[in-house]
Parts: sequence; structure tokens; C-alpha cells
Amino acid sequence: MASPAELVERREGCQFMRIVLASSEAVPFSKTGGLADVAAALPKALGQIGHEVSLITPHYPRMISKGGEQAPPIEPTGISLRVMVGSKQVEGRILRSTLPGSKVTVYLIDQPGYFDRAGLYVEHDQDYRDNSERFIFFSRAVMEAIRLLNLRPDIVHANDWQTGLVPALVNIEYRGTPGFEQTASVFTIHNMAFQGQFWHWDMLLTGLDWKYFNWKQMECYGHLNLLKTGITFADLVTTVSPTYAREIRTPEFGCGLNGALTSRQADLVGILNGVDTEVWNPQTDTKIVKTYSASTLNAGKAACKAAVQERLGLPKNPSVLLLGSISRMTHQKGFQLVEQCASMLLDQDIQLIFLGSGEPRFEGLLQDLARQKPDKVATTIGYDEELSHQIEAGADAFLMPSEFEPCGLNQMYSLIYGTVPIVRAVGGLADSVVDATDENVEKGIANGFSFREFRSDVLFWNICRARSMFSDPQKWNRLQQVGMKQDWSWKSSANEYVRVYDRALAKRTAPVGIGAGASNHDNSPQN
Ligand code: ADP
Ligand code: GLC
Repeated sequence: MASPAELVERREGCQFMRIVLASSEAVPFSKTGGLADVAAALPKALGQIGHEVSLITPHYPRMISKGGEQAPPIEPTGISLRVMVGSKQVEGRILRSTLPGSKVTVYLIDQPGYFDRAGLYVEHDQDYRDNSERFIFFSRAVMEAIRLLNLRPDIVHANDWQTGLVPALVNIEYRGTPGFEQTASVFTIHNMAFQGQFWHWDMLLTGLDWKYFNWKQMECYGHLNLLKTGITFADLVTTVSPTYAREIRTPEFGCGLNGALTSRQADLVGILNGVDTEVWNPQTDTKIVKTYSASTLNAGKAACKAAVQERLGLPKNPSVLLLGSISRMTHQKGFQLVEQCASMLLDQDIQLIFLGSGEPRFEGLLQDLARQKPDKVATTIGYDEELSHQIEAGADAFLMPSEFEPCGLNQMYSLIYGTVPIVRAVGGLADSVVDATDENVEKGIANGFSFREFRSDVLFWNICRARSMFSDPQKWNRLQQVGMKQDWSWKSSANEYVRVYDRALAKRTAPVGIGAGASNHDNSPQN
């Protein structure tokens, strides 16, 4: 265990830390969305700064390589763990691998009954009925794996509801266990819309005392809420952009937990995600026909545009504005706005490419548009990593009119690829895209189109603005250059996480009375 002097030194100078990150998905082992990208890229970036980082994630045998790259070899460690899930003892095996291009060790929890399935959380549009049991198991398995592997972490960093129980276990059950004496927990919210809310009897599965099932800790409107559990028990809470950190304290974006977040506002930090620039970089991207940089942008983009038009059967017209979209096709991503202005869009001299899957209503709409106007719309339903790179490189502009967007990654990929984003100014979109007003263009800070009102006519008007600016290549190029020259890498965000870890550790190691054991960590009931 670290001596008190060492801990003080760590606090003051952001010294070396042992960090364990827990996530229910991580590329290249599994992926349903941006969480998987972040769960791989953040540990890599923290490792590059010099910290010792391990990642713990479930082993989904049927998902390997869903993240695109070939998954690295996975080996047994020979270590098994046993945890109680309610009254059942459940056994799992710990497997080991490494994140490609890094020294980050990945521990995969193998439990075929829970994880050898066709989906991660959902199959045939239905959540698995035992999701609470599966991820309560996983959260307990994370803690046991840390103990059995003797990882002795300074920080356990849990992400989203699937690991929301982890901060509670750190505080309530593991505090006195060797190796956890000074361990602090950090909890990151990637999306308030997914809370892991289950009927109250699932409290029994957590193995925690009913005294924690109260409105200040784990209960929410009569249900067990695992996102709230993470928010309540973590030493510090982060979310994935500064604007979202403010938004989620309001009823409009808080999804019923704005009160819980407001009560922790002093401990809530917004940190914008970064981009894994080893994967998303037009200068080195092996999935596109021609690599390019800011100085070779025109030639590179022209080749990539022609290639993606050809691949998707669109006329190879260099002068038409080509709009791309790669997304879950859901309400969150604003497809209802596209639906409302679809007929006006089809009348414009533009091309549209949609890649994704999601709600049948939107999948159907976008497939219909492609059938009606095959020379203007190309829709691909499904998941295709290679095509997603080709769209980022080949499109002129990128559509992201989200209703809410905790961070969003594609607008940043777009900026790096000189593809001008058209976004609604919420969450991370507001923090990364600067609207092309005359003044912002003049100042050299505009990198896209951004609007506030969630209305289809406003979206349509912004697409028209983009089309008109696209016809002025010099002005358009200024927008592209601004985005391409900004730093979207993980480096500065990873440093912000280190500062958060440091604050969390300081709370944990502060003498009783100045920070440690804040009321929400208290083991007493909060009625
Ligand atoms: P969210 O996590 O809310 O879905 P993000 O923008 O944070 O949104 O991350 C989405 C990630 O998933 C990005 O890396 C994006 O490129 C990828 N993605 C989404 N849909 C597809 C798809 N159909 N094919 C390939 N990649 C996709
Ligand atoms: C969530 C959010 C998305 C964010 C991602 C990674 O899926 O919807 O905005 O980029 O998590 O943090």
C-alpha cells in the first residue's frame, strides 16, 4: 500500500497511478456505440501519459472484431472467480488480452450464460430480460477480478449503468479489503437516456442491504436505478462534454435524475471525448482510396468522394453537395427532423448517404427515400466500419441534428477529415462545432453549421446554408481547414481525466472531516 507521504506527493504532483477502467463494451472486442471507442482510446491515452491502466470488459464470443480491427489474441489466465448474484453463486473465468498498439492489459470476463449471445443488450429489438442480473454479475466480477489479480488500483473508473454498481461496491463492500484501502472511484455518464432501471425486487440481486434502496441512493420512482447508483456512490462523476454536464442538471436533459445530479454538482465534471487518431486519420487511413492532409485536401477528397459515390451507386458528380450520416437511427439522433423535411430535401440538388441501423420507422423511411430517388439517396442498413471511414472521407458535409448528444464522435471524425458538420448545438456538438456566421468565418473560428432550435425547417435552412457556402470553394475551404487544424486527439482530455482522478484520490485520502466519506458515501440509510 502507498505510504501517506506518497499519497500526498501523488495528490500534489499528479504522480503515477494505477487505474482500472470497467466498461460493458470496448473496441475491438465489442461495440454498439461511442462508449466502446472511448473505453479503448482513453486507457491507451492514459497509458501514453505514463499510468498503468487495465481495462475490464465482458467476453462476448460472438462479437469479436465488431469494432472493425482484427481482435488481438485472447488467452486464459487460469483464474476463475465466483460471485453471488442474489442467492445464486455464479462462476466466471478471467481471460487476458491487450489493446492493439498499447501496453494496456484487457481482462475479459467469460460467462457464456450471460455473454455468449447474439447481442450485447438487445436482441430482436427487445432488451434481454436478465440485463440487470447480467450486469450486476459483471460489476461484482470486476471487483473480484481486481482483487484476485491483485491490481491494487488507485482509481476504479466505471462507465454507464452497466457498471453503476461498481462505485457502490468499492464503498460499501471492498473498503476494508487489502488492496482497496485508498481506492477512489470515478463514474462516467455517457448517456442519461439509458439508466439501467429495473423493478425493485432486483435490489435482491445486488446483494446490498435494502437500506440503500432510498430516493437519495439507489431508488428512483420505486425502481432500482443503476445509473443513479453510480452517480451517488462515486467519489467524482464525469460526463462526456462540458455542455452536457450543465444540461443534465435541467429537467429537459436530466431524464429524471437532474435532482441527483444537481446535488452532486460540485463533483460533476464535463470532459469532451477525444478521437483515436491512430484509427481516424485521413493521412494514414488504409480504408480510403486516397490519403490526404490539410494541404492535399482537395485532391484527396475528390478521389474519396468519387469512390464512395461509385461504391453506393450515386452519380459521380464532383460539384453536388454530398451529405453523409453514420448513426444509430433513433430519436436521439434527430431522424424525426429528417423525416419531416424529407420531401424538401429530395427536391434539392444534393446527395445523401445514410449508414446505420435502429428504429424500424427510420430504417424504413431512409430505405424508401433511396428507392424513390436512387440518384440522390443511398441508404445502407447495418454496421460497416470500412464504409464509415469512406463516408467520412468522401462526404462534403456531415449531418448530426441530434435531439440530445452527450458528446458525439462523428462530428469530430468529420472535422479531422475536412467534412463540414451540420449539427444541433447540444452537448458535445455545441462544444466542438462553431457556426459559420460571417463573423466567425472572418475570425477564422467557424468549422461547421450549428443551430439551436429542434425544428425541421431550421435543419433544412442550415442544409441550404451549407449548400450555398459549398458553391464558394474558398469560403468552404476555410471551414475545412479550421476543423482539420484543431487538436481532436485524446491527449488533453486524458490529462483532464488525470486531474479528476487526482481530485478523487485526494477526497479518498483526506483526513476524515475534510472530504472523505461525504454524505452520499455514508453507509447509513438516507431517509
Ligand atoms: P452513440 O454512441 O450515441 O451511438 P457516438 O457518435 O458517440 O454516438 O459514437 C458512435 C460510434 O459508432 C462512432 O464511432 C460511429 O462511427 C460508429 N457507428 C455508428 N453506426 C455505425 C455503423 N452503422 N457502421 C459503422 N460505424 C458506426
Ligand atoms: C454515448 C453518447 C454519445 C457519446 C458516447 C461516448 O453513446 O450517446 O454522444 O459520444 O456515449 O461517450
